[in-house]
Amino acid sequence: MPMKTHLLKLLLALPLFFFLAQAGFNPKCDIKDQSSTLKVYHIYSPCSPFRPQKPVSWGESVLQMFAKDQARLQYLSSLVGAKKSSEPIAWGRNIIQSPTYILRVNIGTPAQTMLMALDTSNDAAWVPCSGCIGCSSTVFDSAKSTTFKPLGCQTAECKQVPNPTCGGSTCTFNLTYGGSTIAANLSQDNITLATDPIPNFTLGCIQAATGTSVPPQGLLGLSRGPLSLLSQTQNLYKSIFSYCLPSFKSLNFSGSLRLGPVGQPIRIKYTPLLKNPRRPSLYYVNMVGIRVARKVLDIPASVFAFNPTTGAGTIIDSGTVYTRLVQPAYIAVRDEFRRRIRNATVTTLGGFDTCYSGPIVAPTITFMFAGDVNMTLPIDNILLRSSAGSISCLAMAAAPDNVNSVLNVIANMQQQNHRIVYDVANSRLGIARELCS
Ligand SMILES: *[C@@H]1O[C@H](CO)[C@@H](O)[C@H](O)[C@H]1NC(C)=O
Ligand SMILES: *[C@@H]1O[C@H](CO)[C@@H](O)[C@H](O)[C@H]1NC(C)=O
Ligand SMILES: *[C@@H]1O[C@H](CO)[C@@H](O)[C@H](O)[C@H]1NC(C)=O
Ligand SMILES: *[C@@H]1O[C@H](CO)[C@@H](O)[C@H](O)[C@H]1NC(C)=O
Ligand SMILES: *[C@@H]1O[C@H](CO)[C@@H](O)[C@H](O)[C@H]1NC(C)=O
Ligand SMILES: *[C@@H]1O[C@H](CO)[C@@H](O)[C@H](O)[C@H]1NC(C)=O
Ligand SMILES: *[C@@H]1O[C@H](CO)[C@@H](O)[C@H](O)[C@H]1NC(C)=O
Repeated sequence: MPMKTHLLKLLLALPLFFFLAQAGFNPKCDIKDQSSTLKVYHIYSPCSPFRPQKPVSWGESVLQMFAKDQARLQYLSSLVGAKKSSEPIAWGRNIIQSPTYILRVNIGTPAQTMLMALDTSNDAAWVPCSGCIGCSSTVFDSAKSTTFKPLGCQTAECKQVPNPTCGGSTCTFNLTYGGSTIAANLSQDNITLATDPIPNFTLGCIQAATGTSVPPQGLLGLSRGPLSLLSQTQNLYKSIFSYCLPSFKSLNFSGSLRLGPVGQPIRIKYTPLLKNPRRPSLYYVNMVGIRVARKVLDIPASVFAFNPTTGAGTIIDSGTVYTRLVQPAYIAVRDEFRRRIRNATVTTLGGFDTCYSGPIVAPTITFMFAGDVNMTLPIDNILLRSSAGSISCLAMAAAPDNVNSVLNVIANMQQQNHRIVYDVANSRLGIARELCS
């Protein structure tokens, strides 16, 4: 396939490897989170210990993120129930497939700080624990926390875990995440989010992990299941949160995750949040159309239709980097986009099929959602541009064939510099522009 050949050439030309620092947080970044708002960092931020140790070229980082997305989409597709793809994950490259943003969570007494991945398509929270086989070196040492307790098999919490098993009297469970498997003990400890103490928070304490998809310091799931943060903090946060993701270009900046109703935007437009009863972890919305510049594209409504049985529809996800549209929708967007950039020759870069060398003037793209909510993307959310300005690509792709081919995923690059409000209590999603980087 031409795409792969191109990718291969690039990879051979750039023999760069991805080293990970196992150090803690950059002290310059150690600014305390205030009230119920947590800073959100890109994994490549100078504040992230997971950034590459050696500078990675622009082209390489783009391709790495695209490769990670393939694994992410396979994972989301397994949640949706679509057929599994035989495409090898990330084309055999050994990269960390964790979601793109991290935040600081204090766990236990005294507090141990973990930089957990933010993931809106996951219910539960889990951290690597001391003694874990196959985890990275930064783990939560449960023996050092005076408030840590394992949960027994007979507890109400254990009954909410899918397929629990009993290790002695401890409630244990296995799950898959991306290409990884995780074995964990169900546990409780006090956690602190920004300055909010949350006593007896139920989370998984990872004892063994395989594969490279496990976020190195754990994951904070922000979806709707019974063991999710939202369910466990209903009295405190009333099932509402919002985030603003910082720009991919200005990695020095942090965005924010704001928990609870206080401080949420008052004037913001909402579209209904849909729930697929078979896949409650995913936040579905009703996309009704796409506009390129001022032209509403002629895409049949059936392409966007929400179908709980097949999993078809549109989800908004914090962990996927580049938006994926089902084939007919992507082709319509791409063709109109190309039509508006007449004077330049189209090239490809990895999985991106609409790239240009040299400067272009790109049209805006608008995602139209039910309830007359138009999300018009600023240019930084549409184009991937090399720092030297020599190449720019439309930062979207078609849903891969046989992986999730029915699911549109509104990904995080397209969400940057927007406030996205997940008002789960009222089943609605708010979208507004906000410069947070
Ligand atoms: C997890 O559970 C197993 C089985 O009960 C136990 O041997 C192990 O010590 C537990 N680990 C932690 C960190 O609680
Ligand atoms: C869960 O994973 C552990 C560790 O990999 C393994 O020993 C155990 O057999 C698994 N349990 C189940 C029920 O699959
Ligand atoms: C942890 O939670 C328990 C139960 O609410 C509480 O008694 C204790 O003070 C908390 N400890 C800390 C350090 O917050
Ligand atoms: C938290 O757990 C501790 C120790 O098991 C218990 O004494 C306390 O009542 C619990 N607090 C809450 C709020 O459930
Ligand atoms: C980001 O921060 C680093 C270190 O604080 C600084 O050297 C660099 O110039 C900053 N970059 C931008 C784009 O602001
Ligand atoms: C294409 O046209 C735009 C606007 O007219 C111009 O800014 C740009 O330099 C042109 N690009 C090429 C490759 O000629
Ligand atoms: C959204 O876009 C459509 C199509 O251009 C337009 O008809 C509608 O008025 C727009 N709605 C808002 C609130 O801007």
